[in-house]
Amino acid sequence: MSKIIAGGGGFIGLNFIKQILKTEKDIVILDNFSNSKLSTIESFLNDDNVKVIECDLSNNLETKLSIKKAINLTFSPPELWHFAANSDIPSGVNDSSIDLKDTFLTTFNLIEICKIENIKSFYFASSSAVYGDHGLKPLNEETGPMMPISNYGAMKLASEAICFAAKESHFDDLRIFRFPNVVGAPATHGVVLDFIRKLKNNPKKLKVLGNGLQEKSYLHVNDLVRGMIHLSHKDFKKVKNPIFNLGPSDSVSVKWIAEETIKIFSPDSEICYELKDRGWVGDIPKFIYNTEKVLKTGWEPLLNSKEAIKLAIKEIISQET
Ligand SMILES: NC(=O)c1ccc[n+]([C@@H]2O[C@H](COP(=O)([O-])OP(=O)(O)OC[C@H]3O[C@@H](n4cnc5c(N)ncnc54)[C@H](O)[C@@H]3O)[C@@H](O)[C@H]2O)c1
Repeated sequence: MSKIIAGGGGFIGLNFIKQILKTEKDIVILDNFSNSKLSTIESFLNDDNVKVIECDLSNNLETKLSIKKAINLTFSPPELWHFAANSDIPSGVNDSSIDLKDTFLTTFNLIEICKIENIKSFYFASSSAVYGDHGLKPLNEETGPMMPISNYGAMKLASEAICFAAKESHFDDLRIFRFPNVVGAPATHGVVLDFIRKLKNNPKKLKVLGNGLQEKSYLHVNDLVRGMIHLSHKDFKKVKNPIFNLGPSDSVSVKWIAEETIKIFSPDSEICYELKDRGWVGDIPKFIYNTEKVLKTGWEPLLNSKEAIKLAIKEIISQET
């Protein structure tokens, strides 16, 4: 099957495409490049197997026309992979229209057009942010009630809900992947990129958002891509709950990430913490994944949270210098 990849210009989309290009030849990227650059997909522009359509997927008509165009460009019936969203969670706290538009309406429009164009397979990039703040109680795919504390998490949860409604009426095959914090390059956001950019500006002092005791799971993007491809090859058509937490089952503190980053990048730097327990409104200070469901399918990450962060620090340093 061909693949239409919404948000394919972004960090995760790009890594996903690089990997699938090893075996697949019929890919269309849809992106408005609001949080990515056309230049990052330069290597694909000369590749006949990848087509790029620049479009705003929060606009219904633009989405409709772009999907029609994408279908005309592909040689076999497409499946849709939806990675487009606002990935800057704090910006969505200050202006809730951002997540309404880029996180929810992109999903709504894509689903509606899948119905019109008879696209039956939908793969959705969701997030641990849908759960809300449950402390260190391990989160599994049955955990509830779902109490997102950011507009981003709320719009991801609403997106999941309309995915399920469409599963009942239209989709043959739906898969929802809930990512934790994903790290690697080319990073467009996230704690490691934030630290390295701050240290580039001021190598003597690293200001951490929050008290550093935030404790989260981190997955390397290579493991994530492997996990999604692995799950896409399994038959879950008859499964009632096709949601998967993808991630390591451990977690690591922001303090440890700060110390590791200065050790590698700027050893003379002093780390300064805030007194509050979270970095921004909507930040979930502690969470840990229960990943039994995905482990049972035969996938596990090669790197734990610490190993993923260590590799990402090196990758992001070379991206930024
Ligand atoms: N990176 C993480 O840690 C993480 C964690 C949980 C979930 N996710 C989800 O994974 C997906 C990919 O994340 P990412 O880290 O690659 O983010 P990213 O910002 O690098 O990529 C998102 C892409 O979507 C595009 N986009 C945004 N709004 C659009 C619109 N209206 N129309 C067309 N394109 C639009 C952006 O230009 C960007 O290229 C997102 O849905 C994100 O919410 C990411």
